[in-house]
Amino acid sequence: MCGIVGYLGEKKATDVILAGLEKLEYRGYDSCGIFFHVEKTNDFITYKDKGRISHLINDFNYKFDNHLGIGHTRWATHGKPNRENSHPHFSFSTRFAIVHNGVIENYRELTAKYIPDVEFASETDTEVIVNLIEHFATELSIEEAIRKTLSLIEGSYALLIVDKQNSNAMYAAKNKSPLLIGIAPNGITLASDVMALVEHAETYIPIEDKTFVSVFASDDKFEYAMVDIIGVPVIPKPLKMDIVLEDIGKGGYSHYMLKEICEQPSVVRKIMDKYLVNGNTVIPDAIVKLFQNTNRIYIVAAGTSMHAGYVGKYYFEHVSMIPTEVFIASEFAYNQPLIVDNPLFVFISQSGETADLRACLLRVKELGHKTITITNVPTSTLAREADHFLEIFAGPEIAVASTKAYVGQVTILALLAYIVAKRKPFDLHLELSKVAIAMDAVIDNREYIDNLVKDKLTKRNCFYIGRGLDYYTCLEAALKLKEISYIQTEGFAAGELKHGTIALIEDGIPVIAIISQAHIANNTRANIREVMARGAEVIVIALTAVSDLTDDIVLMDVNEMLTPLVTVIPTQLIAYYSALHLGKDIDKPRNLAKSVTVE
Ligand code: M6R
Repeated sequence: MCGIVGYLGEKKATDVILAGLEKLEYRGYDSCGIFFHVEKTNDFITYKDKGRISHLINDFNYKFDNHLGIGHTRWATHGKPNRENSHPHFSFSTRFAIVHNGVIENYRELTAKYIPDVEFASETDTEVIVNLIEHFATELSIEEAIRKTLSLIEGSYALLIVDKQNSNAMYAAKNKSPLLIGIAPNGITLASDVMALVEHAETYIPIEDKTFVSVFASDDKFEYAMVDIIGVPVIPKPLKMDIVLEDIGKGGYSHYMLKEICEQPSVVRKIMDKYLVNGNTVIPDAIVKLFQNTNRIYIVAAGTSMHAGYVGKYYFEHVSMIPTEVFIASEFAYNQPLIVDNPLFVFISQSGETADLRACLLRVKELGHKTITITNVPTSTLAREADHFLEIFAGPEIAVASTKAYVGQVTILALLAYIVAKRKPFDLHLELSKVAIAMDAVIDNREYIDNLVKDKLTKRNCFYIGRGLDYYTCLEAALKLKEISYIQTEGFAAGELKHGTIALIEDGIPVIAIISQAHIANNTRANIREVMARGAEVIVIALTAVSDLTDDIVLMDVNEMLTPLVTVIPTQLIAYYSALHLGKDIDKPRNLAKSVTVE
């Protein structure tokens, strides 16, 4: 987690960095800091504190000409969010400043071995890096000192380093944590996400692991050089900057989450445009063959993406007839199941940067298995490192709570399962078009959901219940509600509730039931009666074909397989409006970050 931005160029560095940090705040937002060079006095200034980037922008003075700087927005791993632990951190003489995203696993050992006498100013693991650099720089060149440090540290890092003795240079390095360099004739920007580069770069390069980058200014030119850890030049091909600025704004909505919920019908339509051309699928043959030839699919994912994975399992098993298992990434990495011959590993990740998945991907590659990543970020680490990747085309998802990426993932999984199936059970193009219309209907009517939840979701607890595909939607719905409203919510298989958890049902406890599958509708209704008999306040979400007159949210009918794409929409709106009524910070819920780049 954490986001970093650095700039060396003709623009005012603090403007570039602060605007960039605002865009990266989704990566962590418990504290922040900036460090920059003041032209006039040839001094360096540091501002850092607990709190959000708005505090850094509004409460400090930037009335100085400055063209070099680095900044950081933090999600605490080592040490509390406070001023001391905020980045930048400094070497023992304060000559070197550093901002770091990642975790250094062997920082204690390195401290004891190389710099036992250095007193650290914070509780962070980061300080060891910058102190080692200064320690080695007494005998080596700066570049050699940094590369030597990189060869010793174990763990994940995206680093930006400034040497106070040279205000015309900045250094960077990366391993496991994302880092990109944005290139323009008037300056070089480095950042954790391409979003922070959009306005300042004509081209950009996602930096590969264990690469060291120097950026320097000379004769009004801004240049960079990349080498690997032993100093061998790396010559990557810059990519054209093709992200549109409007895509990363709120577009008139009060929150990113609401904007992203409302964009979901267009995500489905965009995926159809990209992958279903004139009724034919245009997913590369090599990918289709991987699915056709495997004995078992292993889906590895986390959080919302894992819930999409469950729906995918249903599709692969019911439509394509391929046995499929879904694994929590953080469990799979260290508690590996017995793997059949000829497996196919599918990694699902909005960000393409989730560290838990990366650890699995590396392990699976070591074992020589075939891999594919389904992601929203084609330049991400998981996209680059898997054998193949498929893009979700959901557009930048900024709210921490994932919505449109989930819908994109489920749509792609439906598409894949359908393409691979020997017998096509329906016309996917037609059915997905109906899905987009049914989604539009719920979104257009969102005020109704706003009023419905106003007085209902006020208790400490809440339950979602459903069966089959609806159960998977319940898992996702519960995650969404708890994540942004802090109401403790569980998604339950409706039939399982009576095996223990029903003990928690008492007067007024909200239970939200989802019913979209005709063959199990009556069973779920029986479970609804059980919780009502114990005092639960029930909200029923049902498709028209299986609805009752008293149901609270009735959705347009769509193909039974595709119902998760529609039933999830009211649950996202329930989460959104509940959090809104409770006055929560919807786009940046506490303790969280959008991209989870630590294991
Ligand atoms: O970027 P990823 O899809 O790999 O992220 C996985 C989870 O961290 C993510 O889905 C998380 O659960 C969301 N914040 C849920 O809304």
